[in-house]
Amino acid sequence: MFEVQQYSGNKIEDYELLLKQLNALIKDETDEISLLSNVSALLNQFLDQVNWVGFYIWKEDELVLGPFQGLPACNRIAYGKGVCGTAFKQQKTVRVADVNQFPGHIVCDAASQSEIVVPIFVDRKGYGVLDIDSPILDRFDETDQTYLEKFVRVIEKHLQKLS
Ligand code: SME
Repeated sequence: MFEVQQYSGNKIEDYELLLKQLNALIKDETDEISLLSNVSALLNQFLDQVNWVGFYIWKEDELVLGPFQGLPACNRIAYGKGVCGTAFKQQKTVRVADVNQFPGHIVCDAASQSEIVVPIFVDRKGYGVLDIDSPILDRFDETDQTYLEKFVRVIEKHLQKLS
């Protein structure tokens, strides 16, 4: 059974604890939908000031909505479009301090003000993206980026074993 643990309020310590929780949560799961659903729930309860946390998975030349927490969102995002498509195309994290200033940003929840998208790779191929939205401007800093990338590396390693 997954144990909810108390966070300390120290950002780095808490992210380190989150990584441990992630490992414990996914280590025995072999179903991708089940795994990513729980991962989105874990992140949603860990991160403050976020209104959408979830995955888009690369399928048939589009990013298709996967497990998430938040309001209903657009089902499909084309290659290179929006923040998600841009991060997937550029194969690097895109951190947007103000989504209103990002050309081509796709609005799913009008409350979203800032966003971070981390691409996911399995077998050295694009698998999809982790997308997180916040209702406040400039919510995500370098520490968030570093740890969310570490978080995604753990998921990739696990997905790799399943592929
Ligand atoms: N804002 C994203 C679309 C997905 S939603 O934020 C859930 C984008 O521009 O790609």
